[in-house]
Amino acid sequence: MRIAIIGGGPAGLYFAISMKLRDPAHSIEVFERNPPGVTFGWGVVFSDQTVENLMANDNQSAKVIAGEFAHWDDIDVHIRGETVTSGGHGFIGIGRKRMLEILQDRARELGVTLSFEAECDPADSKWRGYDLVIASDGANSRFRDADPSAFGVDTDVRRNKFVWLGTSKVFDAFTFAFEETEQGWVWAHAYRFAPDCSTFIVECSEETWAAIGFDRMSQAESIAWCEQRFAQYLDGHRLQSNASHLVGSAAWLNFKRIKCDQWSSGNVILLGDAAHTAHFSIGSGTKLALEDAIKLAEVLNRPGLTLGAALDEYQAERNLEVLKLQNSARNSTEWFETLERYLHFEPLQFAYSLLTRSQRISHENLRLRDREWLEGVERWFWKRATEGKSNKTAPPMFAPFKLREMEVENRITVSPMAMYSAVDGVPNDFHFVHLGERALGGAGLVFTEMTCVSPEGRISPGCTGLWNDDQVQAWRRIVDFVHANSKAKICLQLGHSGAKGSTKLGWEGDNDPLDEGNWPVMAASGVPWSPVNQVPRAMTRDDMDAVRDQFVAAVRLGIDAGFDMVELHAAHGYLLSSFITPLQNKRTDEYGGSLENRLRYPLEVFAAMRAAWPSDRPMSVRISATDWAGEDGIAPEDAVAIGEAFAAVGADLIDVSAGQTWAEQQPVYGRMFQTPFSDRIRNEARLATMAVGNIYEPDHANSILAAGRADLVALARPHLIDPMWTLRAAAQLDYRDVHVPPQYLGGMAQLARNLKREAEAAAALRV
Ligand SMILES: Cc1cc2nc3c(=O)[nH]c(=O)nc-3n(C[C@H](O)[C@H](O)[C@H](O)COP(=O)(O)OP(=O)(O)OC[C@H]3O[C@@H](n4cnc5c(N)ncnc54)[C@H](O)[C@@H]3O)c2cc1C
Ligand SMILES: Cc1cc2nc3c(=O)[nH]c(=O)nc-3n(C[C@H](O)[C@H](O)[C@H](O)COP(=O)(O)O)c2cc1C
Repeated sequence: MRIAIIGGGPAGLYFAISMKLRDPAHSIEVFERNPPGVTFGWGVVFSDQTVENLMANDNQSAKVIAGEFAHWDDIDVHIRGETVTSGGHGFIGIGRKRMLEILQDRARELGVTLSFEAECDPADSKWRGYDLVIASDGANSRFRDADPSAFGVDTDVRRNKFVWLGTSKVFDAFTFAFEETEQGWVWAHAYRFAPDCSTFIVECSEETWAAIGFDRMSQAESIAWCEQRFAQYLDGHRLQSNASHLVGSAAWLNFKRIKCDQWSSGNVILLGDAAHTAHFSIGSGTKLALEDAIKLAEVLNRPGLTLGAALDEYQAERNLEVLKLQNSARNSTEWFETLERYLHFEPLQFAYSLLTRSQRISHENLRLRDREWLEGVERWFWKRATEGKSNKTAPPMFAPFKLREMEVENRITVSPMAMYSAVDGVPNDFHFVHLGERALGGAGLVFTEMTCVSPEGRISPGCTGLWNDDQVQAWRRIVDFVHANSKAKICLQLGHSGAKGSTKLGWEGDNDPLDEGNWPVMAASGVPWSPVNQVPRAMTRDDMDAVRDQFVAAVRLGIDAGFDMVELHAAHGYLLSSFITPLQNKRTDEYGGSLENRLRYPLEVFAAMRAAWPSDRPMSVRISATDWAGEDGIAPEDAVAIGEAFAAVGADLIDVSAGQTWAEQQPVYGRMFQTPFSDRIRNEARLATMAVGNIYEPDHANSILAAGRADLVALARPHLIDPMWTLRAAAQLDYRDVHVPPQYLGGMAQLARNLKREAEAAAALRV
């Protein structure tokens, strides 16, 4: 094949090498606009896995690269005059210039033609004469942008400003240095990549950047400012730029996240940064570029594969890898963009939050990297959780938590789950066993399902309620069992179904109206849940008074039943949620329009409940932190204001759920997918929060808690299948102080022994 490669960066050069290795008969020309030895940037970091991939593809160049690697293990986080050092991170770095020299030499040796100072124009007709034109021309690819619709290019220009500098100061650890200025925070990411050289990237928000005046400074002035501000880390060494072709503030960039739907069009194939970018803070752009090159060369040389099939496989496989990485990169980018949120943390927790920002590194990963450091974090967590009384080194999920006078034994909650198994709203033996068993399973807090305040406030005929004495008696039996046989606390979730009422049991048709016996429904406005549901009556002020009083009456009955805590369900599109979300609330009176107006009635209900509930017992509210509807609905920033508004009328905890507020929602699912909303509310509004949503491993819970992303962690579906989730986690983590019902002690001891034996056997196999 006759191949033109546009751009002599890592992607283009490594593709040339990989093609020649597979078939020396290919005619390959690389065109690079810069002279040899001139490139942007300084060093790049790799993981061990990338090095293994390089070794398997071309042992010769990989050995030369590996021979020149700088290695380091520690990460130092400097903030507010303190340094937090954690080890075991295992980085490898090399200068970008040196790596390109090695790749250029290897490409020449294999017979690749390299042309420097060759600016390529996509409009030039000569490209039609090549079988393939590889657009490895970087993030600002001219070949891709010549026909953006053919490639389905999606570019997201990120908020922060950064400048990529170098220094002769040799950092022993990967260094993050955060500095507070009068204009805001500025920080550096610095790492060594050669015996005498380090990368030094300076970053800050656009506002801070403008306030400092970087937009008006020459490049030399910017560098001088950074040298002075970071002098304590530079030990007299200078900072340098190798972007001398960029004048003034142009050396400062905004990171561009690029994605493409199509990686090829006609004879042009995108490779590396031209196809996708990954934020520099997770240091994987070069890895992706090199791995793209290997995969593309492999499929193009595979016998029997047509060009079309080869390109399909290239895109399908690489795109999956890229999406995973871009996901982590997005988390990491956002962490730095929302840095203000975490600045109130103590340095140790701040460092933990920084290390786990991309969600690729978890609590247990950190234990493997540096056990001693992680145990220090655990001790710190326990000390804070117990106001200095405990010095325990133990997983955060087992630390107690206090809300008013109620103390939960640990941070795991059984999330509210409708069981659709009641008759006339009265909980029965099913609920007794179901809730009782989950309390025996070790969770610190067990929620009832949404318990409705009136017969017509039920979702389905099978929902539990609390409006009469039979129901009080039945609930009291359950609450008494929980209190007598476990250490769990039990919370009553109260709600009203609104427009989502009068529907079938969950498993007979979620949100489908009953076949017969429907009752009239009401909501904030006359907006039906879906075309098949009833049109609700828009509530009058009389309706509002009546429903508020039903909530208050239910709270009083909840006191009689002995509950420890009450939650108001104001999420998921039910009655109170239909006031909060603009997608359901179309009112033109003082209960519609602005968020303040839409919150007015739910807050009135909450305040009335709070007044009836004992002041030493806590109350929470469940909210949907987003409608998953973009700008048309509730967005996470609104959720902060919603949390604050409920806290102002006495909510002690915000239970942060999301969505289910309109039928057309577009949720983005994933592990712990709603936790960022809890993180935002907790750390922007400084409120206690509970995270929920696809949290299923003890490691998830510990990572969320130690990083200060929530105070409690709720699990719903995992508890349906495993009521003993918390006890199992304790056995797995070898935590002995959890309360085990005495009847079950033998089972717990055996589980712990077996898990330990299995872990030892797995460790022996690894050795
Ligand atoms: C601040 C910063 C820090 C980074 N840190 C890391 C890190 O630690 N680890 C890591 O793996 N990655 C890092 N990256 C990302 C990494 O630099 C890129 O992902 C990687 O360089 C992609 O390789 P590439 O070959 O696709 O593109 P590039 O390296 O951008 O190469 C493209 C080449 O094409 C040439 N070119 C462009 N247009 C034309 C044209 N029209 N004609 C001729 N030539 C052209 C350019 O001169 C350039 O040499 C970082 C990036 C930034 C911005
Ligand atoms: C069967 C079932 C019933 C549910 N019923 C309720 C409910 O009554 N009240 C409520 O607030 N959330 C309810 N939810 C939502 C859960 O509490 C939880 O927020 C959601 O399932 C996400 O958590 P998970 O990924 O751990 O399951 C229910 C979930 C399930 C699976």
